[in-house]
Amino acid sequence: MARSKVVLAYSGGLDTSVAIPWLREEKGLDVVTVTVDVGQPVDLERVRAKALASGAVEAHVADARHEFADEFLRPALRANALYEGVYPLSTALARPLIARRLVQVAREVGADAVAHGCTGKGNDQVRFELSTQSLAPELDVIAPAREWTMNRDEEIAFAGRHGIAVEATRRSPYSTDENLWGRSVECGILEDPAVEPPEEVYAWTTAPTAAPEAPAYLTLRFQGGVPTALDGESLPFEELIARLNRLAGAHGVGRIDHLESRVVGIKSREVYECPAATVLLDAHRALEALVLPHDVLAFKRTVEQRYGELVYDGLWFAPLREALEAFVATTQPRVDGEVTVKLSKGRASVAGRRSPASLYQAGLATYSEGDRFRREKAEGFIYVWGLPSRTWASVAEPAPPVPSPAEPARLRVARP
Ligand code: ARG
Repeated sequence: MARSKVVLAYSGGLDTSVAIPWLREEKGLDVVTVTVDVGQPVDLERVRAKALASGAVEAHVADARHEFADEFLRPALRANALYEGVYPLSTALARPLIARRLVQVAREVGADAVAHGCTGKGNDQVRFELSTQSLAPELDVIAPAREWTMNRDEEIAFAGRHGIAVEATRRSPYSTDENLWGRSVECGILEDPAVEPPEEVYAWTTAPTAAPEAPAYLTLRFQGGVPTALDGESLPFEELIARLNRLAGAHGVGRIDHLESRVVGIKSREVYECPAATVLLDAHRALEALVLPHDVLAFKRTVEQRYGELVYDGLWFAPLREALEAFVATTQPRVDGEVTVKLSKGRASVAGRRSPASLYQAGLATYSEGDRFRREKAEGFIYVWGLPSRTWASVAEPAPPVPSPAEPARLRVARP
């Protein structure tokens, strides 16, 4: 009788490589691996070969950069999605895509379960498992690294016994994750939130102090809330993001030091490098400020915050995410135009913006020649607008109750 299959999210690193023989030996399962390129530095052919050499019965690989940009980063940008006001959700946004691939392959090969390499303390286990439950409630989820009790040295020994190549690279104290939208770093000295992150944790960004003295300017064209061109050149979204990561990273833009509240209740310290996301979110918000009315902007901020929490919390495949996106979508058709961003010494700042849908009217805003605002109407406006305040203020404050000296208030007992 054929053995049951499990589909494993496979990065090619030590944990997920060790998971292959572990799943076979401990759970009696044939392992099918899935590796997706979401913009991390990965050689898919090498990863496929390593999966098979580590004992996988099948190894699936796919370039999902376009799908990631199109279906996950596009709505996130339109929603200005940030967690706790600072984290562009790079890792969080890739998890539902990977989970969807796991489910697709599980159905193709007739697997009963999917597996991932996350530990029991992080957010990513929550995201993988909630996504899987929403898409395929019939599938089991196995988390080997949550079950096994091996420490790192024991894992290396286990890998050696199973013929798994352990990369002879210098052992880094940091744990990292990368994709098009950013790079995240945790562990090591970063676990002390009182200590400034050392320069060695950064890989995508130049130190702001070492960045070029001369600022650089770039112009983004947006159509329907999505960037479509960089400095006049039309580019697929994923390519535009990759270029911006290099351009803005070279100026030290996009470093984020986040004292973060994990889904599982733990406070953690994570450092991110998100040059493209930082520039694009700033530029997108600047264009929205030009074309959307105040009340829509203000209400959208509350939607954005909730949206960011949902993504962080692993609820991508949930009805509320779709409902909030539907709201965001109605706000975006006029988010068309150009934004010029200045990159200088670690900072991205919006230097200029223009739009055919601009609500900015020079004749209303100017203090110079050509003023069309009818300032004589201001007095009547203020009379009506201030009416509730004047009414409130005109009603006398009731005097505070005075406790009797013989019987202090705190001792007074109500008698029937
Ligand atoms: N804390 C981030 C999140 O939950 C990123 C975790 C990524 N993993 C890492 N090894 N840095 O989205």
